[in-house]
Amino acid sequence: MKLPLILVNFKAYEQATGESAVSLAKIHEKVAKETGANVCIAVSALDLARVCEVVDIPVFAQHTDFEGYGGHTGHILPDMVKEAGAYGTLLNHAEFQLGDETLEKCIDAAKRAGLFVVACANDPSRAKKIAGFNPDLVAVEPPELIGGELSVSKTEPAIIEKAVDLVGAGKVLVGAGIKDGEDVKIALALGASGVLLASGVVKAEDPYSVLMDLVSGLKS
Ligand code: G3P
Repeated sequence: MKLPLILVNFKAYEQATGESAVSLAKIHEKVAKETGANVCIAVSALDLARVCEVVDIPVFAQHTDFEGYGGHTGHILPDMVKEAGAYGTLLNHAEFQLGDETLEKCIDAAKRAGLFVVACANDPSRAKKIAGFNPDLVAVEPPELIGGELSVSKTEPAIIEKAVDLVGAGKVLVGAGIKDGEDVKIALALGASGVLLASGVVKAEDPYSVLMDLVSGLKS
């Protein structure tokens, strides 16, 4: 995976599911192509296959379970996600938290299936513990800032520094309230390898312009 990266989580926003997921994914691809930046997206399991068919950027599932093929009604199998064309999976998002045992199994299963794993953590010490389960990257997001106006970069820079210190350079994404290129720039200056965000892009009137601004923050 090319670092640094910008990973936009479409969550279950109406502006980012169904047909809108496809058009929003195409905007991300356009920005990636125009700038050369590594712009990735995490989409609903329901939209994964068709989004993967139409864009050529890394597409993530928002969650995968640990079961293999068989009688597992309703589960999201890493093998099926890989088969649908996904590059990776998010795990343990603040809005979909898992216990340690389950998380470790999900990480192992996703990696066995060939998926790139971004595991989320609410704070730096949890990030350190989760890093021990060997995801490819750990994304640290203070839950109280998620979906709000204040960014982790501008209001909680110490969290970024601490996470990088505990987990190691080249392993940490940060997120929560990220809105613009300045937020990205601060996060990278503090040692992060990219950002994870959602509402700043998904709820924007002009996602293309917001993405171009975010990408400008990747340049040192
Ligand atoms: O997955 C990204 C997320 O939890 C942060 O959301 O809306 O604060 O960028 P947002």
